[in-house]
Amino acid sequence: MKIPFAESWKIKMVESIRKSTRNEREKWIKEAHYNVFQLESQKIYIDLLTDSGTGAMSDRQWSAMMLGDESYAGATSFYKMKDTISAITGFRYVIPTHQGRAAENVLFSCLIKEGDIVPGNSHFDTTKGHIESRKALAVDCTIAEARDTQLEISFKGNMDIKLLEDCLLASSEKIPFVLVTITNNTCGGQPVSMQNMKEIYAVAKKYNKLVLFDSARFAENAYFIKTREKGYEHKTIKEICLEMFSYSDGMTMSAKKDAQVNMGGFIATNLEDWYEQAKVKCIIYEGYITYGGLSGRDMNAIAVGLEENTDFENLETRIKQVEYLAQKLDEYGIPYQRPAGGHAIFVDAQKVLTEVPKEEFPAQTLTIELYLEAGVRGCEIGYLLADRDPFTRENRFGGMEFLRLAIPRRTYTNNHMDVVAAALKNVFDRRKSIIRGVQIVWEAPIMRHFTVKLEKL
Ligand code: F0G
Repeated sequence: MKIPFAESWKIKMVESIRKSTRNEREKWIKEAHYNVFQLESQKIYIDLLTDSGTGAMSDRQWSAMMLGDESYAGATSFYKMKDTISAITGFRYVIPTHQGRAAENVLFSCLIKEGDIVPGNSHFDTTKGHIESRKALAVDCTIAEARDTQLEISFKGNMDIKLLEDCLLASSEKIPFVLVTITNNTCGGQPVSMQNMKEIYAVAKKYNKLVLFDSARFAENAYFIKTREKGYEHKTIKEICLEMFSYSDGMTMSAKKDAQVNMGGFIATNLEDWYEQAKVKCIIYEGYITYGGLSGRDMNAIAVGLEENTDFENLETRIKQVEYLAQKLDEYGIPYQRPAGGHAIFVDAQKVLTEVPKEEFPAQTLTIELYLEAGVRGCEIGYLLADRDPFTRENRFGGMEFLRLAIPRRTYTNNHMDVVAAALKNVFDRRKSIIRGVQIVWEAPIMRHFTVKLEKL
């Protein structure tokens, strides 16, 4: 008999979670204005809102926490973290920040000014927020194939090189850098190929431009390169990471994802100019340059987390769990962005709730229905998140409309995945009866999805 695949870890500590009744959930979601961000966590049974900062740390990470050096300046914990980052990425300058968007804030404060243009492959919402709040424009150059959720290709997160070059040709002087998000979260946790990274870097250099990686899930991206791209099957994850980052001039990182910690981030680069500028902003916004908003113990945990998650077995365990959920959805015929992403399944809400008009936010409606069904919290990555066009103030209905089921690292078992899939199947089975969605009662001027208040129609 073939020995089945199993996790590369065992569980040492557990946290109780609680089921609720449908009546309770009806009341709670109404009180939360039909916005799952407004729900208290004890009102959730299985929480797939995000994989950000929600994972379980290892025994080695927890023991490293006890050894944190809390010196204000020059803490050994900083150097441990910096040395690990340098070994994995090849970048010698490292600036800690309290999370990913803080890294964006520090670096973009130095690099982006009003009227600039930042081409990229589906910028993440906070990234776009940090570009647009500086009155600059985020231009999406993702490949067109990414929009066809049923098309199964290996590197759906890639950038369209022709679109990028057109953008560089048309507005070169307004472009401070090209941004590559690995993996591409917004389009489904889809990876970018090494080939594409190489081409992006070559085109950028042709126009004398710098390349920045938004690297929140870089290790998952490396796993996909190893398992899908020809020529990389015998390379280690660490070798692949070094090559990936050789096609960029710097990175911003949310350590809450692939560094497997609950809080943290950083900037890394070899450009002295970026480093010198960012240092100043770090001190103003985050803290002194050897802690940048982090405790010594946090930096120790990041060092160990990065080391562990650039190990093939750890990544394989994770990605296989996401694939497990995908296989269940395949069994039930539920459409999602194919192939399964690295950190999440992105259910194609428009294909499920075909009767709900786009103005009534089908993906948010599906998110609410899934919560009502079994207390499972997913997250809308669709028209609500896409926000309004900063110039016309019109809703941006042009993009994808997903319910994202993001799986925290080392947190849930496949039994939990079975519950999620069954709950979604029940909603899917009665999809034709769901004909109305939600409408906005109140929204913030930017990044509205976190705080929006909705009403059920
Ligand atoms: N970049 C990407 C690709 C992200 O996915 C995120 C966060 C950030 C930057 C910002 O990092 O949260 O540490 O400030 N993504 C989370 C998510 C929130 O749910 O996908 P942060």
